[in-house]
Amino acid sequence: MNQQVVQLMEYIRTKTDFVPKVALVLGSGLGNFADHIQVECEISYSELDGFPVSTVPGHAGKFIFGYLGDVPIVCMKGRVHYYEGYTIDQVVLPARLMHAMGAEILFLTNAAGGIKHTYHAGSLALITDHISCFVPNPLIGPNDPDEGVRFPDMSHVYDKELQKIIRKTASDLSIDLDEGVYCQLTGPSFESPAEIRFLRTIGADLVGMSTVVEAITAVHMGMRVCGISLVSNLAAGISPVALSHEEVQESGDAAAPMFTKLVKESIVQF
Ligand code: HPA
Repeated sequence: MNQQVVQLMEYIRTKTDFVPKVALVLGSGLGNFADHIQVECEISYSELDGFPVSTVPGHAGKFIFGYLGDVPIVCMKGRVHYYEGYTIDQVVLPARLMHAMGAEILFLTNAAGGIKHTYHAGSLALITDHISCFVPNPLIGPNDPDEGVRFPDMSHVYDKELQKIIRKTASDLSIDLDEGVYCQLTGPSFESPAEIRFLRTIGADLVGMSTVVEAITAVHMGMRVCGISLVSNLAAGISPVALSHEEVQESGDAAAPMFTKLVKESIVQF
């Protein structure tokens, strides 16, 4: 196991013995998700030596441990992004750490720009596949064979069974759930209209600045992965207005109740 993960786990085990089944990364719109959890313990990222701390407004950082129904979960309230200047290794450290805590499932959520024609601002989309070609691969460097294989298969990154549960939950709750292929770019600038036309041509439905590197890391370690994007805005050139971080946050807030319900009711069935 990664030496930094070993050291951080030693510290975490002085604070809690909690073993999560599900690790949930909270994106825009799910910031208050912890209100629905029976909280057992919280650990601020700032307590964790060398742990990356977000510099983005609205992304305050801590791990929250607790139960959703009978399911033990750890939530990441706040995550770091590559564009903040962290290395990809640092960006995926939280995923490695949650795996070391015992999490078997990584549930990724994010706000994304919508490229597909069926989306509108506020759409929820199940991530069915991804495009990682524009960000460094998180597995570059020496491979630890105890963790995973050198050349991991990425044919089924987003677990089919988990997708089935999420689709069925959305249907039972009468929540419209679209689907799509998510493409991670570095940011922090939003895309140009020409870049969005290019991304559509190569098969991207959703564009954002997170998620894919975490998903690759988790699959490599043998975790089951699922993800949902909140379409916070239509992508550049499709949207009639200029893109802004404020719009992303406002859409997140507006969709929060539905998004929260879908994630919560899905996880209790995992
Ligand atoms: N592009 C990239 N990332 C994003 C967007 C977008 O339009 N919206 C939210 N995150």
